[in-house]
Amino acid sequence: MGYHVPVMVREVIEGLVVDPDGTYMDATAGGGGHSEALLHALGEQGHLIAVDRDWEAVEASQERLSTDARAVVWQGSFAELGGLLAEQGGGALSGVLFDLGVSSHQIDVPGRGFSYREDGPLDMRMDPAAGQSAADLLAVCSEIELAELIKRYGEERQARRIARAICRQRQLEPMRTTQGLRRVVAATQPQMLNKTLARVFQALRIAVNDELGALDALLEGAARVLMPGGRLAAN
Ligand SMILES: C[S@@+](CC[C@H](N)C(=O)[O-])C[C@H]1O[C@@H](n2cnc3c(N)ncnc32)[C@H](O)[C@@H]1O
Repeated sequence: MGYHVPVMVREVIEGLVVDPDGTYMDATAGGGGHSEALLHALGEQGHLIAVDRDWEAVEASQERLSTDARAVVWQGSFAELGGLLAEQGGGALSGVLFDLGVSSHQIDVPGRGFSYREDGPLDMRMDPAAGQSAADLLAVCSEIELAELIKRYGEERQARRIARAICRQRQLEPMRTTQGLRRVVAATQPQMLNKTLARVFQALRIAVNDELGALDALLEGAARVLMPGGRLAAN
């Protein structure tokens, strides 16, 4: 199975590449699909920096891009874009690409805990070495915080009911697995179970990875690392 099938590749490349000999950053490299297409569009003097927070994505991208001397792959968060560039001695960029969300690989591997369809540890960290897992988050949030989080990041109307059910269940035993969470959500009898599960899992993923905080930091950071006339593409 492939790591991830990149979407809107032609549109992204056409919109992003203003100077084929410039330096570009793919800030969410994943399996390196967009990165590879970017390299095809660049000239001999062009450079690509591929970044991902997830070590598995870094390895997949390294494998895919390693034969091209114009590419380097770094592990890190796009929230620290400026710091990453300064640390590695990189200059101003002609363009930065963000393909936000999760990769198919992250969803497909049960051990990552992103999928409500498979059983696995309730982890959901893009970088499993950093921060608290979804299980840790569920253990420490108050019922009100949990309801707010599910409502805000998942846009789930039954957020309060689901938060109450989670808090009741965790008094009996810690919630450690995706299927444990699935059972609790199912017990609240939502009309469309899979849609509700998708919203609850999305909400937890966004909270665990502080995705909105990272996005704010990235927008601020990108303005500082782009050269005049440089472009930012978001997918
Ligand atoms: C939709 S996938 C990108 C797929 C990629 N365009 C490809 O062609 O395979 C999103 C990627 O963003 C990464 N990601 C999410 N938040 C990140 C962050 N703050 N910094 C860097 N990478 C991040 C995820 O680990 C995931 O690999």
